[in-house]
Amino acid sequence: MHHSPDPQTTHTELIGRDAELTQLDTLLTTCRLVTLTGPAGVGKTALARACGSLTRPPTVVSLDMLDLPEQVPGRLAAGLMTAAERPMLVLDACEGAAGVSARLAGSLLAAVPGLRIVATGRERLGIPGEAVLPIRPLELPPPGRPLDGGRRSAAAELLARRSGPGFTLGNGREEEAAALCRAVGGLPLGIELAARLTGSIPLAELRARIEADPLGVLVSEPGDGPVGSAGTGHPRHESMLASIGWSHQLCQPAERLLWARLSVFGGEISYEAAEYVCADAHLRAPGLRDVLHRLEARSVLSADDRPDGTYWQLPVLYRSYGRRWLTRLGEDASLRRRHAHYTRTLLPGA
Ligand SMILES: Nc1ncnc2c1ncn2[C@@H]1O[C@H](COP(=O)(O)OP(=O)(O)O)[C@@H](O)[C@H]1O
Ligand SMILES: [Mg+2]
Repeated sequence: MHHSPDPQTTHTELIGRDAELTQLDTLLTTCRLVTLTGPAGVGKTALARACGSLTRPPTVVSLDMLDLPEQVPGRLAAGLMTAAERPMLVLDACEGAAGVSARLAGSLLAAVPGLRIVATGRERLGIPGEAVLPIRPLELPPPGRPLDGGRRSAAAELLARRSGPGFTLGNGREEEAAALCRAVGGLPLGIELAARLTGSIPLAELRARIEADPLGVLVSEPGDGPVGSAGTGHPRHESMLASIGWSHQLCQPAERLLWARLSVFGGEISYEAAEYVCADAHLRAPGLRDVLHRLEARSVLSADDRPDGTYWQLPVLYRSYGRRWLTRLGEDASLRRRHAHYTRTLLPGA
């Protein structure tokens, strides 16, 4: 466990999260526990640390490591009780130790009057009284369409701020920058890793390289220093591959298999499509919906609930990870065939 009582040294100015900060503040007026969920690198930790209802820097406890020494909850509770009148705790990176985090949060809330907790993780903790705030990637305009009033998108702004001093967004480079951010799915961590390369590789070329092999390009070299200022030096925060690999490690075998198979889809996926393309003797249809929901709960899939049903999608970098895994399983060709058959013959409107 990693305990940093002075998060000020790692505080960054947040870009494009005003709405989320307001929502978080509002939730904290009525809930004592708010969990920020979302995929790797979407900005959960950065948001929790910047929470506006904190009158003073919060105590931040990272649950990155699975073993929680027995005496920690008691010490933490004692510290929180004496430290502040309206104590506030950030329980960061709860996904690796879901049960431990849930028990810790529950016992602290019971022991410390007035305590409020902001937790972050790929999944909710699942304890009573918890409010969940899903965090989405940064806002990005659709291809070829600028934002209203010529506003710069939050994603492009982050790219500009994290790139070297020679980087400018004038002269039509706005759209190129947005396209680059789209290639990393608008994920702040992906944008920061890409920004390290904008000084040495032209934007359009960098985008093409990322589109071809996102996880191979978005790595940091030893000695690059931590990403952004929330960087912890932990390998899981230093490359998209390591970070998504960590999500993968936390999944059950059926979830990993479905994740790999779903990577043949380019966009939204209906239940019928998932079943047609992905179900077989190893991944039986009756349980498939559950597996989809579990991947959604783990922030591996984003979901859009519409009147005609739920549509799921793999964030672009998770898709790329799934593709690698599918190839390793030797299922690439057969799944592509099934997907092609589905779109040719069964897709409504095709
Ligand atoms: N809105 C934002 N503005 C500026 N930087 C951000 C923003 N969101 C995330 N970052 C940066 O992106 C990186 C990944 O964010 P982080 O909070 O660690 O993601 P998560 O906790 O969801 O995995 C960090 O270096 C962080 O400082
Ligand atoms: Mg985090």
